[in-house]
Amino acid sequence: MTKPEQYAVFGHPIKHSKSPLIHQQFAVQTRQNIEYTRQDVDAEQFVSATRNFFAGGGHGLNCTVPLKELAWKFADDLTQRASYSKAVNTLARQADGRILGDNTDGIGLVTDLLSNHQIKLDNINILLLGAGGASRGILQPILQQQPKRLVIVNRTVEKAVNLATEFTELGNLIGCGYNDLEHQSFDLILNATSASLSGQLPPLPEKLLANKGICYDLAYGNEPTAFVRWGQQQGAAKSLDGLGMLVEQAAEAFYLWRGIRPETQVMIEQFNTNRNQSN
Ligand code: ATR
Repeated sequence: MTKPEQYAVFGHPIKHSKSPLIHQQFAVQTRQNIEYTRQDVDAEQFVSATRNFFAGGGHGLNCTVPLKELAWKFADDLTQRASYSKAVNTLARQADGRILGDNTDGIGLVTDLLSNHQIKLDNINILLLGAGGASRGILQPILQQQPKRLVIVNRTVEKAVNLATEFTELGNLIGCGYNDLEHQSFDLILNATSASLSGQLPPLPEKLLANKGICYDLAYGNEPTAFVRWGQQQGAAKSLDGLGMLVEQAAEAFYLWRGIRPETQVMIEQFNTNRNQSN
């Protein structure tokens, strides 16, 4: 058998990354001869580690925290969605040796919402919590679905306003602060703040979620996040976390690298079963 083609995920910390497991399963499922490893690489080591990886014959890399902006700078070419997001989670060596940078986070989220949960995004009111890298990474694919209106809310109001201004040509969106949300309601609330990671919740007013509204936390964990619990308390029709997005962003990266789209539903169900059993 020929030597497997090399892929890896770089990040710091990287120990708990599910990417090796996901991509190895995709490879088995689609009969691709690849090896996918993980490497603890911090910001200082990023450029030399990435150069070494590709010089050594590596085909593709995933980059996670804190490397996504560095990967965006590193790429020779960028997909349109990666240029908008100013962050790259997937690097691919092209036939001519140039390195292409893509960001599959936003399309992963959109696919999870549309295909796995049958949640349409066109003509609805969306609230996006947070104005950091995670928000920037998903804005273009979300706006491409043509929501009626998208509001970005952030603790530091200026960042929300600036981000909305930057994407203004792509849709109907504004930036504001949490105090401005009184008496407004939304069909879909996306949490892209890092608050979940520390078990915190942004200051959300009552009645923010429309009747039959949906909550989605980009973060995920073995336990429901504070925001997923908030959604349940508010009577959300669905209150979801980012497990499906994680698998779908990986599937999109796999497709970029191998030209084959793996089946994702089975894997998402398997992860869900495993975490229910560990609770
Ligand atoms: P990431 O790349 O994960 O988006 P980031 O760029 O540091 O990380 O952005 C974190 C986001 O979460 C920011 O929008 C931050 O708000 P500020 O810009 O005002 O700091 C938001 N955030 C973090 N903790 C929060 C909390 N407890 N409540 C509300 N927003 C929070």
